[in-house]
Amino acid sequence: MQVRFSSSLPRPAALIAIPVVKGGDIVAAAASAVPAPRPLVERAVAAQRFDAEAGGLAELILPQGDEVARIFLVGVGDGGNEAYEKAGAALSARLLTSGETVLTANLAGASAETAAHFAFGALLRSWRHDAYRTRLPEPQRATLAELVVCGAGAGVEAAWARLSAVADGVIFTRELVTEPANIVYPESFVERCRHLEALGVEIEVLDEPAMRKLGMGALLGVSQGSARPPRLLAMRWKGVDATPVAFVGKGVTFDTGGISIKPAAGMEDMKWDMGGAAAVAGVMKALATRKAKAHVIGVCGLVENMPSGTAQRPGDVVTSMSGQTIEVINTDAEGRLVLCDALTWVQRTHAPKTIIDLATLTGAMIITLAHEYAGLFSNDDGLAGELLAASTASGDALWRLPMGPAYDKMIDSPIADMKNVGAKGGGSITAAQFLKRFVEDGVRWAHLDIAGTVWTDKAGTLFDKGATGFGVRLLDRFIADNFEA
Ligand code: BES
Ligand code: MN
Ligand code: ZN
Repeated sequence: MQVRFSSSLPRPAALIAIPVVKGGDIVAAAASAVPAPRPLVERAVAAQRFDAEAGGLAELILPQGDEVARIFLVGVGDGGNEAYEKAGAALSARLLTSGETVLTANLAGASAETAAHFAFGALLRSWRHDAYRTRLPEPQRATLAELVVCGAGAGVEAAWARLSAVADGVIFTRELVTEPANIVYPESFVERCRHLEALGVEIEVLDEPAMRKLGMGALLGVSQGSARPPRLLAMRWKGVDATPVAFVGKGVTFDTGGISIKPAAGMEDMKWDMGGAAAVAGVMKALATRKAKAHVIGVCGLVENMPSGTAQRPGDVVTSMSGQTIEVINTDAEGRLVLCDALTWVQRTHAPKTIIDLATLTGAMIITLAHEYAGLFSNDDGLAGELLAASTASGDALWRLPMGPAYDKMIDSPIADMKNVGAKGGGSITAAQFLKRFVEDGVRWAHLDIAGTVWTDKAGTLFDKGATGFGVRLLDRFIADNFEA
């Protein structure tokens, strides 16, 4: 969907959206903005139980001379940015496949920032991936192609430049997550990130021989059963000269479980086991597009986890780049094996003082928090606080979980420095404890287990079923609030 801003008012017979705040006399507010007799507005509001709740809609179809206008009253609740985001999104959801092509929103009186949030909601909710649906019936096709925002406050273009960069990042993440594993695999994931170079992102790619030379035995052990060669992708956005912040993403482009193979039912979901890496790529895109005044390194550990005659076996002992050895009890606990080498590499290469990793790491995370929050684990209360604040501000929900020596002990191994799974309970926590063993002294680190939040079976405010783009808005906010002073 294209977004455009205009200072002139909508054409009277257009498809027009008019925001209504909650609290006052809704009918009076609506009647003053709609060219219709008050009883008609009153009936429309009552018949559609319109109460101006954020995202609520009431529709009117009205004669305008020889033409007809289609007007939507859209609730904007308390009139805040989030409410306007919901309003834009609700209109998108309602009109996306309606046959209408252009929506004009009359946002006279809204601040620049608020109007930009309205467009942000509309744009994000309009995204779909129909590339492979070659026989999609006409009524299911997206038609809404343009949003024209009229009358917003001065500076709306600048506010939009910032938010549209974030939307570009979210959409890039969703695209990577949605593509199946025969299309997005380690090498093609890297190629899809190449366009970031034109935005000023420096890209470094390690292939298998390079990783072997560095001793990344944990990551390579996961990859060795696959015909697809692995990659380590590093993206650097240097918007200022400062110690970098690092984001590290799990990029298992398909997770069969390996020799500890997963059940067939639902295995297709494991195409999105690269959601952490996709979020890292998406936030790098957002930061570079809006020219963030921060120095950020994004690292993606990209592998495919397959069973085969060359696959690693349960019981194998591998040596990580850090020198620590790992007994691979379960080849399906592969994400941590990929991440541990990516963590060591980024610390040795770029010496960040803050690292956040994102990973669809454990099914246990979904048991714990369902699909409502991602799990947050950290070795630093300050960093956890910064992330929770960014979570609240951005809408990407996080909930902190505990860590500690009792959990750490659960991954001790009788033959190696550690094993890759714990005992029965606390599977998401023992996974975090595993990663913590690869964080060097003096580094603030947080791990986000996003297993439950990268993909959804039901539409949300800003997304339809499918890929959510989780993590991009969160990390963009985190950088903006803590590293761009
Ligand atoms: N990618 C999975 C985690 C996952 C499962 C994410 C389901 C989303 C939905 C991960 O690699 C995995 O298989 N984890 C195992 C760990 C276990 C073997 C200790 C799990 O959660 O079952
Ligand atoms: Mn697995
Ligand atoms: Zn996995």
